[in-house]
Amino acid sequence: MTDTSPYDLAKEAAATLAELTGVEKHDVALVLGSGWLPAADLLAPDGQSPTAEIATTDLPGFGAATVAGHSGRIRSIAAGDKQLLVFLSRTHFYEGRGVAAVVHPVRTAAAAGCRTMVLTNGAGGLDTSWSPGTPVLISDHINLTGTSPLVGANFVDLTDLYSGRLRALARQVDPSLDEGVYVQFPGPHYETPAEVRMAGIIGGSIVGMSTALEAIAAREAGMEVLGISLVTNLAAGISDAPLNHEEVLEAGRAAATRMGELLSRIVPQL
Ligand code: HPA
Repeated sequence: MTDTSPYDLAKEAAATLAELTGVEKHDVALVLGSGWLPAADLLAPDGQSPTAEIATTDLPGFGAATVAGHSGRIRSIAAGDKQLLVFLSRTHFYEGRGVAAVVHPVRTAAAAGCRTMVLTNGAGGLDTSWSPGTPVLISDHINLTGTSPLVGANFVDLTDLYSGRLRALARQVDPSLDEGVYVQFPGPHYETPAEVRMAGIIGGSIVGMSTALEAIAAREAGMEVLGISLVTNLAAGISDAPLNHEEVLEAGRAAATRMGELLSRIVPQL
């Protein structure tokens, strides 16, 4: 028996997606991370409902969501002249399902026609001026997972991985948006204060457990990437406060309207 390649599996998922949603081609994909879920409802134009909503498990290659606050559903939303594909959850590296599972939504989105990938997450901030609830554009990343979604001699260029063009568009919508370098740790434990200090020394300013691997897969697929972190807390040791997942979700809920408005104003420009 030959295993299906991750790329063929993504094509199968895209075909099933088209069948279940009745939408032949999507344009812009969004992954909503911790704290971003309530923003989903603001992506459809004024009070309109999504074209379709399905469970991730309806599509080949997707497992069930396992993290509280991450709902395993996918929405297809018509927004102006764009058809959005919105993942209301992601598979994290720390779930141990393998890197191919982590980036399967990205590859499915690419196979569904998306040329733009918007990756959002909840993250810890190193800059004390970022109070919980502050959105920060990702300008670059440092991948500390020790792995890659790419296998073999596949030398993908990651210069300008987080598109300067898309960051400029986002800033037109909200000129107050700061930017930072995202450091992906493997998790699921939060970082130690020493690890957070290291992240700062090597050039990072936001720490989290997602996004970098997905961005690499998106670039491999030729998509343009916009990354936005919602700083839900100051990173470990930057403030003395202990971290917990419930507080991360709460900071997201508190910032949901602002994030939803931000996304719904950026998306039409993409
Ligand atoms: N570290 C890693 N991941 C996170 C954090 C953090 O401080 N906050 C939200 N997700």
